[in-house]
Amino acid sequence: MLLTGRIPNHVGIIMDGNGRWAELRGLPRIEGHRRGVERTKEVIECAAELGLKSLTLYAFSTENWQRPSAEVTTLMKLLELYLKKELSRLIQDGIVFKTIGEIWRLPEHIQGVINESEEKTSSNKGMVLVIALSYSGRNEIVRAVKKILHSGMVPDKLTEEVFSSYLDTVGLASPDLIIRTSGEKRISNFLLWQAAYAELYFTETLWPDFSRDEFLLAIQDYQQRERRFGAIPARLDAQ
Ligand code: IPE
Ligand code: IPE
Ligand code: MG
Repeated sequence: MLLTGRIPNHVGIIMDGNGRWAELRGLPRIEGHRRGVERTKEVIECAAELGLKSLTLYAFSTENWQRPSAEVTTLMKLLELYLKKELSRLIQDGIVFKTIGEIWRLPEHIQGVINESEEKTSSNKGMVLVIALSYSGRNEIVRAVKKILHSGMVPDKLTEEVFSSYLDTVGLASPDLIIRTSGEKRISNFLLWQAAYAELYFTETLWPDFSRDEFLLAIQDYQQRERRFGAIPARLDAQ
């Protein structure tokens, strides 16, 4: 499948449905997560090839800490394995690796691998790959407010732009498109501030089945959207 139209600068993905994928096959949920990681690699590669400036993947929410500890531990293990195995490839592909969320809540050895991956890719010039880990939009906003209060900023200095610079996503453009797999039609605390004008795309496909072609379908769908940002489209304005 070839794409010609405009390519979004920034795409966010809520990678959902790993557990159901496994349950449907009588497998433990973790098998769904394992398979999900393979899809993640495929989508990262495709996004970089398309020329996206950034791709943000929701991998673990603040609320996901409530899951059984065995599932959380295995998810952390999978993340560590992914980073250890894929770092050289990220470097080779010129990808800049970043994380958003309360990274300090993750096990220390994983924080070490994350820091190493961020450092070793920081001077790359290609797509920025952002992984949201122990992340939630409300938590990010509250942390930003705390930082602002601690800075002693005078209220009149606070603008939307200044506020954005206190968020974890500082330096990144707002997402143009947010994709959610698995048929759920909700945001689940993902990029609440940043998603103000994102186009939303929902698919029934479970994340472990989300192929490169499905990703391209989502981009194609985005290309048909008319983005207005609250204004009147130029052709109507001219009448
Ligand atoms: C998404 O799949 C991965 C994470 C939230 C870590 P789920 O684990 O939520 O899968 P379902 O929604 O139960 O199918
Ligand atoms: C959202 O999925 C979080 C991630 C994909 C990491 P969840 O499965 O946690 O969301 P809910 O519980 O269905 O809203
Ligand atoms: Mg889910």
